[in-house]
Amino acid sequence: MVSNADLASLPSADRTDVAARLRDALLGASFTADGLLELLGAPAYAALARSETVPALRATRGDTPLEVLVRLFLLQQPVPHARVAGVLPVDACLESGWLVRVGGPSGDEVAASVDVRPYGGPDGEDWFIVSDLGCAVGGAGGIGSRAEGVVLGVGGASTTLAGITVRTPVSAALDLGTGSGIQALHAARHATRVTATDLNPRALHITALTLALSGTPAAELREGSLFEPVKDGETYDLIVSNPPFVISPGARLTYRDGGMGGDDLCRSIVQQAGERLNEGGFAQFLANWQHVEGEDWQDRLRSWVPRGCDAWIVQREVQDVTQYAELWLRDAGDHRGDPAGYQALYDAWLDEFEARKVRSVGFGWITLRRTGVAVPSVVAEEWPHPVEQPLGDTVRAHFERLDYLREHDDAALLEGHFRLAPEIVQEQVGLPGAEDPEHVVLRQNRGMRRATKVDTVGAGFAGVCDGSLSAGRILDAIAQLVGEDPVLLRDRTPAQIRLLVEQGFLEPA
Ligand SMILES: C[S@@+](CC[C@H](N)C(=O)[O-])C[C@H]1O[C@@H](n2cnc3c(N)ncnc32)[C@H](O)[C@@H]1O
Repeated sequence: MVSNADLASLPSADRTDVAARLRDALLGASFTADGLLELLGAPAYAALARSETVPALRATRGDTPLEVLVRLFLLQQPVPHARVAGVLPVDACLESGWLVRVGGPSGDEVAASVDVRPYGGPDGEDWFIVSDLGCAVGGAGGIGSRAEGVVLGVGGASTTLAGITVRTPVSAALDLGTGSGIQALHAARHATRVTATDLNPRALHITALTLALSGTPAAELREGSLFEPVKDGETYDLIVSNPPFVISPGARLTYRDGGMGGDDLCRSIVQQAGERLNEGGFAQFLANWQHVEGEDWQDRLRSWVPRGCDAWIVQREVQDVTQYAELWLRDAGDHRGDPAGYQALYDAWLDEFEARKVRSVGFGWITLRRTGVAVPSVVAEEWPHPVEQPLGDTVRAHFERLDYLREHDDAALLEGHFRLAPEIVQEQVGLPGAEDPEHVVLRQNRGMRRATKVDTVGAGFAGVCDGSLSAGRILDAIAQLVGEDPVLLRDRTPAQIRLLVEQGFLEPA
């Protein structure tokens, strides 16, 4: 664990005045996501996101203020004090700890004490993410620091969660395991009150820096494990967590190894979230789960869903245990050690999985919505295909459509009016030259980008849905067209309409 003494190496979180001056100076030098892209060019910019620094070093050999800032904060190079003085309030930054002198108090070079990375908000906000030095400059070698309490910046998982989060205005949001503070930063746009928690005090300190430097209101910061920092009876409209979901043989790195056996940490968070949600509130998580021999992964996940909540669980990827172990051994840089040590670690991962009868590990998204209805809806599905981020509106609409379907039995569904969702196309699949297609596929170009097979009635029905006629009237017309008994057609089609509504091809008008 990180001691409080370690926090002394970080900039002061109390000096919001210096953070504000630093922010102005960074913006003044175009140290922004757009400014970086322009300076570095797309390949070097993308390489930097992969923690590869050589292309960016080559692109910042000049002496403009922006080049100086990139070398200082992103590439973590020492820069002459006199050069930095022309760009930043250097003495205030030294005094409050954003910069340190290199080579002792009289050294004439300065270096950054933390990584500061421009991050563009969804409405073009110029934000900054603060994290520990060395995490994003490791290149192919894995993370640069192996300190247990190291705080990482933004990764793919962070932006995935930020993208799928429902962004309706709310009173209270909770970011559990805040790390660099990225989820709290997003939540600050649409939540009146944001609470950020973490087991690691260093992460809470860094979150305060991220929010201050981004010019957003401070969050309430609380230290503790899982929901411990949440007071009795305290509830939220939105809970988000990108937890330390890695299923590993033993806790080592706080940012990823939860320290509970198997997937227990993810299960605990999901199970305990229900009672902390307000009616209608959402809880959204990234998670890893075990695929255990002889057990259906969907049943495992369904058993995690707390009472009184609808759930939508999407499995995005499955890795066998060898791929999984290698991924996380590399993440920690363990492959750079001596081969015998690497083999022993690899063995330990496989021992752990064998003991738990785990064959593979699933990765995905879990969204809960508190409803209090008697029979909640729990959808657990596999969708490994590309989606259109941000998905927050799609997630919200999914639950709204569930409400609609719950409130409409088949007779009511046939009375309903529907509209084809925007940007749906029909694809006909079959042998080249064949007169009739083998089957017809409806494909979404938005949101989840789903594709679903339909029969000719389903395709015809979807094509006519513009909200003007009721579903039953449309089916009667189709029955007449194809010479089928309208009563039978009305009888058998609601199941197909239900699926098309559930999956977002049709929207209640
Ligand atoms: C994968 S990082 C996510 C950081 C950030 N929220 C993001 O989306 O990038 C997981 C975070 O959970 C914190 N953490 C680890 N164990 C925890 C626990 N038992 N309770 C609360 N937070 C924990 C870690 O310190 C780390 O900051």
